[in-house]
Amino acid sequence: MILLVGGEKGGSGKSCLAQNIAVYFSKEKDASVMLVDCDPQKTTSDWIQARHSAPDLPWINCVQLYGKVRYELMSFENHYDYVIIDCGGQDSTTLRAAMSVATHVLLPLRPKRRDLKTLPHMDELVSSCSMVNPKMHARIVMTQCPSLPNQAGRILEAKEVCRTYGLDVLDSVTFARNLYDDSEELGSSVLELEPNGKASNEIRSIIEELMAAEAGSENNGVSGSEEYLRAVG
Ligand SMILES: Nc1ncnc2c1ncn2[C@@H]1O[C@H](COP(=O)(O)OP(=O)(O)OP(=O)(O)O)[C@@H](O)[C@H]1O
Ligand SMILES: [Mg+2]
Repeated sequence: MILLVGGEKGGSGKSCLAQNIAVYFSKEKDASVMLVDCDPQKTTSDWIQARHSAPDLPWINCVQLYGKVRYELMSFENHYDYVIIDCGGQDSTTLRAAMSVATHVLLPLRPKRRDLKTLPHMDELVSSCSMVNPKMHARIVMTQCPSLPNQAGRILEAKEVCRTYGLDVLDSVTFARNLYDDSEELGSSVLELEPNGKASNEIRSIIEELMAAEAGSENNGVSGSEEYLRAVG
């Protein structure tokens, strides 16, 4: 499985999710994991450095990769149970190359107007990548949601806006919780700081829902594009 956590909206929680998901598979599923940092900001590489400096946190494999990353990712897929990619920021060759081989794509967005404004471009990106990679499942996940009950409508409305673009949205969300930020700072994860806490259950729920998606359900029968593959290596 190659799981790409991507999207172009800065600060939406891509690195945080990628890190927590890597810990989930490694710690709770006892699986072999390769975490790939495709973001030149190196947030996840910094996190892994903090993690490996801490004496009590289990090792997670992590590499930095940029550009035409398809073959490296396919090679990792052959050697690890789960390849988790943190692909930040703008629409880049790296993001498109990773999407051309990903089995699952998670696009975090906050339920805010400026995040939702990236939806037309996300839709275009997912559609064009689906042409060369019909087995890919792309899902939006709402992150850093306000937890006040009177704000619940905002989350539902944001999900509805995503659906109007034809993009699938997970029911599971993350709420705004300090634990996400605090654990990242320590090279840790919410699953390790509070295994039975609400944030941990949010992470588990997101992964379980994502994995439950039926392979190729929406995109079957679409043929690949040689031109696209040349562009992304
Ligand atoms: N659910 C959450 N609740 C509270 N804080 C969160 C949550 N998710 C992420 N954060 C925090 O928000 C900040 C931005 O998150 P993160 O770095 O994961 O975003 P990003 O999408 O990777 O950003 P960039 O586009 O810069 O790579 C971090 O400090 C992170 O710890
Ligand atoms: Mg990031």
